[in-house]
Amino acid sequence: MAFKHLLGLEELSKTDIESILTSAKSFKEVFTRSVKKVPALIGKTVVNLFFEPSTRTRTSFELAAKRLSADVINFTASGSSVSKGETLIDTAKTIEALASDIIVMRHSESGAASLLSKNVRSSVVNAGDGMHEHPTQGLLDMFTMLEHKGRIEGLNVVIVGDILHSRVARSNIYGLIKLGANVTLCGPPTLVPSFSGLPVRIEYDLTKALENADVVNILRIQRERMDANYFPSLREYTKFFGLTTDKLAHAPKDILIMHPGPMNRGVEIAHEVADCKNSVITEQVTNGVAVRMAVLFLVSGAKEKNFETD
Ligand code: CP
Repeated sequence: MAFKHLLGLEELSKTDIESILTSAKSFKEVFTRSVKKVPALIGKTVVNLFFEPSTRTRTSFELAAKRLSADVINFTASGSSVSKGETLIDTAKTIEALASDIIVMRHSESGAASLLSKNVRSSVVNAGDGMHEHPTQGLLDMFTMLEHKGRIEGLNVVIVGDILHSRVARSNIYGLIKLGANVTLCGPPTLVPSFSGLPVRIEYDLTKALENADVVNILRIQRERMDANYFPSLREYTKFFGLTTDKLAHAPKDILIMHPGPMNRGVEIAHEVADCKNSVITEQVTNGVAVRMAVLFLVSGAKEKNFETD
């Protein structure tokens, strides 16, 4: 299986998603080797083009590309000619003139990755575009669920928080539904949109939502995308939607606790919940490297034989 771009999970099939997750499992095995590197993308150039801040996504794409033996260029908007008025397409074409093969882009505008893919010859990987999608986060979240629960089909997954502004939520919803999970959305009514045509359950009471949950994925409040007051106060938000040990007492004992990061401890997640034995938040970060290796490999069109190290 190979595809030119990864723009979102909405347009991928169940088989496409399963292929990426299977490939990621093979790449994760590379982490256990003494030399954590394969020559799969030797001679290829990956450009990380980030117009918004990032800790996890940018560094893990960089590490993933390096573990595949690609050359990597990191480009951030601050300090570049973007601040002098250069357009996205002109910036991308300038980068392509440096012979890029894959452009990994994060941008504040929904649809920016799709626009880029229509204007460059490189493969484009969406590292988050506005409120639209963050496909590799959705994939790494599903990979982590699969590792711990052994399946996605039939899992009860609760996504809590600012779903309206969340590209992570959208990629999770599209991917999880395709793989047969039961998805519940929970948050203040102003922050939980209806996804017409998609089989999602909406539950405004977090303790009820947690009752049969196999997984809870907690989202932060995305103030940078808010143009109004969506709830009366942070204190009230935390009271009803912050995951605390008290609320967790309503959930099954083996519930998996996830958060894509960055976390706001004491707001959407209590300190003791973030650090409890059910939390797999740091594992999500590790798995992000394996999933992004799989995605870079698949969009590059490289052949399986280049995966061997010895
Ligand atoms: N989960 C996520 O996208 O984190 P960063 O913003 O740090 O990349």
